[in-house]
Amino acid sequence: MSSNSYAEEIQHHLVSRRRDVTVLALEETDSTNDEARDLAEKGFPEGTLVVAKRQRRGRGRMGRRWTSPEGGVFMSIVLRPPRHLPGLSALPLVVGYGVARALREEYDVPAMIKWPNDVLVRGRKIAGILCESALGQTNCWVVAGIGINATMTSQDFPQEIQGLATSLFLETGIPVSIPALIASVHDRVMQSYSAFLDRGFAALLPTILQISAYVGGSVTVSTPAGPLVGKMLGIDQEGLLLLELPNNDVRRIPAGDVSLRKS
Ligand code: ATP
Ligand code: BTN
Repeated sequence: MSSNSYAEEIQHHLVSRRRDVTVLALEETDSTNDEARDLAEKGFPEGTLVVAKRQRRGRGRMGRRWTSPEGGVFMSIVLRPPRHLPGLSALPLVVGYGVARALREEYDVPAMIKWPNDVLVRGRKIAGILCESALGQTNCWVVAGIGINATMTSQDFPQEIQGLATSLFLETGIPVSIPALIASVHDRVMQSYSAFLDRGFAALLPTILQISAYVGGSVTVSTPAGPLVGKMLGIDQEGLLLLELPNNDVRRIPAGDVSLRKS
């Protein structure tokens, strides 16, 4: 099923084995995650894709706003992992890995995963991931929401993020095709997710670490109890951040309410 000709254009770019996924393509919506949550509640299958050209109320983690003007990719994918799958909290990293692979393999940009839910290029944020879930007994789903700055120029970003954000156009100088980008991200995310289901997060971890930002560097982790400064040793097999404190203690930090920055 596809909703209109824009959806058909995206479908045309999907790899042939996935051409039958449902694509709901909207001009504008509050948040593609809300639309995908509705479809997930209605029982739509794994791989179902919602995209919009603009979002009125795009959101990030912890209620933050995600700037969503035309020129961005706003997409949400319905996933249906087994309810008690070990390592499910590492899913945003698996999705980020899929996004980073698409950007590297198709557009040749040095995309890096920033724990727990962002993708950076040359230190600036190009993409963010927001996973939302309902792990009920009868209807268990995760919606993987992905925002990518595609053809935006600096003026399209609000002033407060102009120095922090980048886009594929700013990095490559090429006005990329948004339907083709959506299809390649859908493909790589579904591939990474399948590998995660088949082999577990631990099997993906070495490759994820190779393209993770700040590993071995000095970082500040903001927590509700105050900032923690230390060295980022890596990520553990459950997706927790490994932080070495100045007294050599190593803390394992869940993503929860924390933010990571380079210090
Ligand atoms: P962390 O992910 O470590 O918690 P963060 O500041 O990156 O830190 P997120 O919740 O991941 O926070 O992302 C939301 C933030 O991203 C917003 O507060 C804003 O600073 C920034 N942001 C919003 N829209 C965009 C966009 N289109 N491109 C890049 N950055 C954006
Ligand atoms: C973050 O960096 O905190 C995550 C940002 C996630 C943004 C995407 S855009 C598509 C989907 N719909 C939303 O409202 N948010 C996600």
